[in-house]
Amino acid sequence: METLFIDKMHDELRQGEAFAPAATDPIAYKKRFYIESYGCQMNFADSEVVASILNQEGFGATRNLEEADLIFVNTCSIREKAEQTVRKRLTEFKRLKKQNKALLIGVLGCMAERLKSKFLEEERLVDIVVGPDAYRSLPALVSEAAGGQKAVNVLLSREETYADIAPVRLDGNGVSAFVSIMRGCNNMCSFCVVPFTRGRERSRDAESILHECRELFAQGYREVTLLGQNVDSYYFVPDDATAQESTPVTFAKLLEKVALISPLLRVRFSTSHPKDITDEVLYIMQRYENICQYIHLPLQSGSTRVLQLMNRTYTKEWYMAKVDRIKTLLPDCGISADIIAGFCSEQEEDHLDTLRVMDYCGFDFSYMFFYSERPGTLAARRYQDDIPETVKKRRLQEIVEKQNQLSLRSNQRDLEKIFTVLIEGDSKKNDQEWKGRNSQNKVIVFPKTANSSLEKGSYVRVKVTECTQATLRGVPV
Ligand code: SAH
Ligand code: SF4
Ligand code: F3S
Repeated sequence: METLFIDKMHDELRQGEAFAPAATDPIAYKKRFYIESYGCQMNFADSEVVASILNQEGFGATRNLEEADLIFVNTCSIREKAEQTVRKRLTEFKRLKKQNKALLIGVLGCMAERLKSKFLEEERLVDIVVGPDAYRSLPALVSEAAGGQKAVNVLLSREETYADIAPVRLDGNGVSAFVSIMRGCNNMCSFCVVPFTRGRERSRDAESILHECRELFAQGYREVTLLGQNVDSYYFVPDDATAQESTPVTFAKLLEKVALISPLLRVRFSTSHPKDITDEVLYIMQRYENICQYIHLPLQSGSTRVLQLMNRTYTKEWYMAKVDRIKTLLPDCGISADIIAGFCSEQEEDHLDTLRVMDYCGFDFSYMFFYSERPGTLAARRYQDDIPETVKKRRLQEIVEKQNQLSLRSNQRDLEKIFTVLIEGDSKKNDQEWKGRNSQNKVIVFPKTANSSLEKGSYVRVKVTECTQATLRGVPV
C-alpha cells in the first residue's frame, strides 16, 4: 500500500502540481503541509525525508500555502544573511497565522538546532522547533502543538541517518536526484557552524544508499548526486549478520557500486574536502564513464596562514598539488570551489594569494562569500572579525571578477567540442530549446529538432557553438 501511495505522489509531483488526492481516494488526509527549504542540498534532501515521515502519518504535501494546515521552513545558519532571509519569510507566515489561528508553523533544520527553544521566545508565533536529527518525532510534535503546547526537539544523534526512509521527491525534474550518504561533520573549520547544527559525522548504510539509487533509476531518474559535507570520509562497516559482505565500504567503493547500477545512471558527488579526496576516488572516476568528471573542491582561502586559522589542515601548495593531481589523472575534469573573502586578520597579501591560487587552478566555477561570523564557532571565540565590511565586499568583488574571467575562459575552451548532455527539461526562456548538463556540470542549451525522439532524461551529443561566461549553447550532432 505504502509504496503505491508514494508512487502516485511521485507521478503527480512530477507534473509540477500540488499533490491532492482525487475525491475517490481512500486516503483522507489528516492535515496538509507546505514545506519550504533554504541552504544546502542536504537541507533540500532532508525536506524530502520530512515529507516521507509526514506522509506515513497521513499528512499530505501541498504547494498551495492557502490550503496548508502546517507550514514548515527548513532553515540554514551558514551565514547571517541566510538567517535573515528565513526570519523575513517567517514574518510573512505569521501574518497568515493571524488570519488562521489553527495554522501551525514549524522551524526545521540548522537554525532550529542553533537557536533551540530561544526560537520560541524570539519568534513568538512559531509552534514547532525541530533539529536535523529529530525528524522522526515530527508527527508527535505536531500533535503536541495542535494541543496548544510548544513543541521542541533538537536532540542531535550519533546514529540517525534516516537510512530506512524513502524520500518523497518534492521539486525535482524527474531526471536528477540527491541522495544523502552521510550526516554531520567532524571537521572543525573555525568559521563554520555546521558541526554545531548537524552534529557528529556518521555514514549511512551502503545497502540502503544502493537501494535508493536503484529505485530512482527504475523510476526513470538518470542522475544521482551523493551528498555529504565531506563525502570522502564516508566509511561504513556492514553488520556481519545481515550484510552480504562485511568488509568496510569506503567512499571510492560506494562510488563504484553506485556506478555499476547502470551505465545510463550518471553519478555525481558533493562535497570533497581537499584533505580527504584520495587517488583511489580519482581512479574510480577514471574507470567509469557514468561517473561525472566534476569535483567541487572548496578552497576557502589561497593563503596558507589564513587556511591555518580556518583550521582547514592543508596549505596553499597542498591544494594546488591536489588540483594538479586531478588534472593529471582526469584531464577533462571540471573543478569548482568555495571561497571566503575577508576572514579574520586577512591581509591584502593573503587576498592576493587567493586570487593567485584561483588563476593557477583555473576554476570553472566558484561559490563566493564574504566572511560572516557565526556565534559559537571556533573563529567567533578565538579571533576578531576585524576586516571592515567595505573591505570584505571589495575583496569579494575582486574574487567574483576573477572567477568571471576564469569561467568565460573555461567556456571558450569548450567551443567546437562535442559533449554528451543529459536532458533535464525545457530551457527556462524558450520551450523550443532543451536544457541539460555535460559531465563537467556545465549547463548546455540547444534547439529541439523536429521529429526527434529526444525527451527529458535522454542523452544526446551536442556540439558547443556559442558561449557566455554563464552558459554554453550548442547544436545536437
Ligand atoms: N562541507 C563543505 C562546505 C559546507 S558550507 C566543505 O567543507 O567545503 C558551504 C560553504 O559556505 C563553505 O565551503 C564556505 O565557503 C561557506 N561558509 C561556511 N561558513 C561560512 C561563514 N561563516 N561565512 C562565510 N562563508 C561561509
Ligand atoms: Fe563546515 Fe568544514 Fe565541515 Fe565543511 S568540512 S561542513 S566547512 S566544518
Ligand atoms: Fe546551511 Fe545547515 Fe546546510 S547551515 S549550508 S543548511 S548544513
